[in-house]
Amino acid sequence: MQDADLLIHSAEMMATMKGHSGCPARREEMSKIGLIKDGAVAIQAGKITAVGTTEEVLAGGWIGPKTIRISAKGKVITPGFVDPHTHALYAGSRENELSLKLKGVPYLEILKQGGGILATVRSTKQATDEEIKAQTSHRLQTMLCLGTTTVEVKSGYGLTLDEEMRALRLIKELDSELVIDLVPTFMGAHAVPPGYSEEEFTNYIIEVVLPKIATHTQAEFCDVFCEPGVFSLNSSERILAKAQQLRFKLKIHADELTAAGGAELAAKLSVTSAEHLLQTSDEGIAALAKQGVIAVLLPATSFNLAKNTYARARAMISAGVPVALATDSNPGSSPTESMPLVLTLACLYLRLTPEEALTAATINAAHAIGRADQIGSLEVGKQGDVLILDIPNLNYLPYHFGSSPIGTVIKRGSVVWSASDTLDVISAKVGEG
Ligand code: NIG
Ligand code: FE
Repeated sequence: MQDADLLIHSAEMMATMKGHSGCPARREEMSKIGLIKDGAVAIQAGKITAVGTTEEVLAGGWIGPKTIRISAKGKVITPGFVDPHTHALYAGSRENELSLKLKGVPYLEILKQGGGILATVRSTKQATDEEIKAQTSHRLQTMLCLGTTTVEVKSGYGLTLDEEMRALRLIKELDSELVIDLVPTFMGAHAVPPGYSEEEFTNYIIEVVLPKIATHTQAEFCDVFCEPGVFSLNSSERILAKAQQLRFKLKIHADELTAAGGAELAAKLSVTSAEHLLQTSDEGIAALAKQGVIAVLLPATSFNLAKNTYARARAMISAGVPVALATDSNPGSSPTESMPLVLTLACLYLRLTPEEALTAATINAAHAIGRADQIGSLEVGKQGDVLILDIPNLNYLPYHFGSSPIGTVIKRGSVVWSASDTLDVISAKVGEG
């Protein structure tokens, strides 16, 4: 038996999230987070080799002279957060839209006037590969420091074949260059560019873009912005049906701004996950539950759209829909990288308990991106992606907001970020002065 590379021990509490790797957690399963008091986890060659109480892990024969030990005394251990829905690859920003929003101009009206998503399409097209990568890697590093160890990233600020191919190539390059893991999604159907009717652009995506993306990129999912005025139910269904034939797994932006049957379509196509769902009807919720479609809820988007409309998460959980949480990180409707903020909003406005929110941000999120066999829980054989939170108990995680609860981020068994290093730098600077 080889010595573990790393042992994290003596945690006040450790949420393992164990037991949900086969199927996403539903209903009361979402409250079962596999809590261990005085918890410890050992990692060797990037994978978890032991999980249990400190005594159990020490007695297991994994720990030797070569093992680095980190005490989590008085702290909480969780799996790394998984963010299963972002539009993080782009150049530029849209703070100019804040004043329009405050004047009451609707999100889709800004898009109709050529702003919104189309403004980011223009700024991304004008940017060099290096500029897009530098701006995006800054966001991805911020996510990592905030505890996200795996993130889904959608294309969709390209809209032409060449620009969408470029976006997916840059996502792949960033994945191999950065510590954080990226899961690529093709979302060419994000907006209808000027010069096309919705039908013409839908045909272009189906006939020209999707077949090339399927053979020339590693995009795993295909997503569509299904919304009246953007892509209708019919266009969305045509695009997703073609994507399915071409090997893609499916996602759909459904019922974000209008109740238009997006959830029902998600169920009809048996997509992996339906996202947003702010306006979803009771029938839509029942259909998602029946098909086992994961609801990826994005409370930071609701917060930032500032209309006090949040997804009906309690009704979804009662109906048996597995719920996951994500940031939706993007320059328009959700300019944030913070999963801790999402957890707070999920508890306050989606009325999730801290346990349900943690399930939604880890193992259920891993299911939403097809990675639950590797990440999302602390179980033997899974990747050693672990957070040490500088908080005394789990309730503190959503309770205290606006600053980071993250003490240490461990990715594949290596410490990749630690708050105490940052604090040491600050104290050293103060000392110098
Ligand atoms: O999920 N709804 C469509 N796409 C994003 C917003 C993208 C943007 O505004 O740039 C969303 O909200
Ligand atoms: Fe989105």
